[in-house]
Amino acid sequence: MAATRIVIDTDPGVDDAVAILLALASPEVEVLALTSVAGNVDVDQTTRNARRLLDLAGRPDVPVARGAAGPLVVAATYEDGHVHGHDGLGDLTWEDPATPESPEHAVDLIARLAREAPLTIVAIAPLTNVALLRARHPGIESRIERLVIMGGASFAGNVTAAAEFNVWFDPEAAASVLSGPWPITLMPLDLTHQAWLTDADLAYFAGLGTEVGTRVAGMLEPYASYHERWYGNRDVIMHDATAVYELVVPGAIATRGAHLAVETAGTLTRGMTVIDRRAAHAERPTRVGEHLDRLAFATLVRERLARYPLAG
Ligand code: RIB
Ligand code: CA
Repeated sequence: MAATRIVIDTDPGVDDAVAILLALASPEVEVLALTSVAGNVDVDQTTRNARRLLDLAGRPDVPVARGAAGPLVVAATYEDGHVHGHDGLGDLTWEDPATPESPEHAVDLIARLAREAPLTIVAIAPLTNVALLRARHPGIESRIERLVIMGGASFAGNVTAAAEFNVWFDPEAAASVLSGPWPITLMPLDLTHQAWLTDADLAYFAGLGTEVGTRVAGMLEPYASYHERWYGNRDVIMHDATAVYELVVPGAIATRGAHLAVETAGTLTRGMTVIDRRAAHAERPTRVGEHLDRLAFATLVRERLARYPLAG
């Protein structure tokens, strides 16, 4: 079966890092480019981190194209660097990235690739770039095979009680993207909170004796401390990797049709996703992830990350 052509729109971010490394080690997907956007850290840093991760993966051939430096309408205020480290990748020591930055804007690169052949966008960051794609390239939706998005939550957020970070950071962008005329599979916190890695998994990565294993274990350490503070345990939730897992192991994540909307005006609820799973929506092309098996997920992540260094 031909590999699925994908672009990963990302704000690395330590869980972005695991998602990107998982994708690059998985023949089921062909990573055509990484596009960066402001989110976990500013767009200068997310762009630099995307380049660093391609150096780490031994894939300097993959283009990195810079995208939006902030949300469409209102710049969200949030404490920078407390979740993913101040550099966004766990504050490890990194060489200056060798992988070049593309001169093309992220949105134009995505549009160009989509016009060449069917393209899947794996969106694991605020949706500013994807909303700009719609605005700058009207009708491009018909060239997008599917959007697999990590974002939103049905019941409890992770930035506020109501809002998940990627949607909260740019609610107007999320509202545009989630209402667009294209197939969407959304991985909300309800799903991603089933996809955690344990200290045993981190010890496994460290025990690989590889640069990837050592750095993944290292960058997840501050993330484990964040989880201990907020959730009372060190299990690290791999939000973004669930979007890649959906493409690498089709069917492993149970999904159902739903109507998706985003609150952009609420005082307490701005950035909340309103997910309507009632039966009337069962056949919609917009679907939400409902369930996955954690052990199967963690086993796949271990097996794929153990493949590094990849054969040349
Ligand atoms: O809410 C989880 C999302 O926010 C993930 O994409 C993570 O990287 C953070 O940006
Ligand atoms: Ca992310």
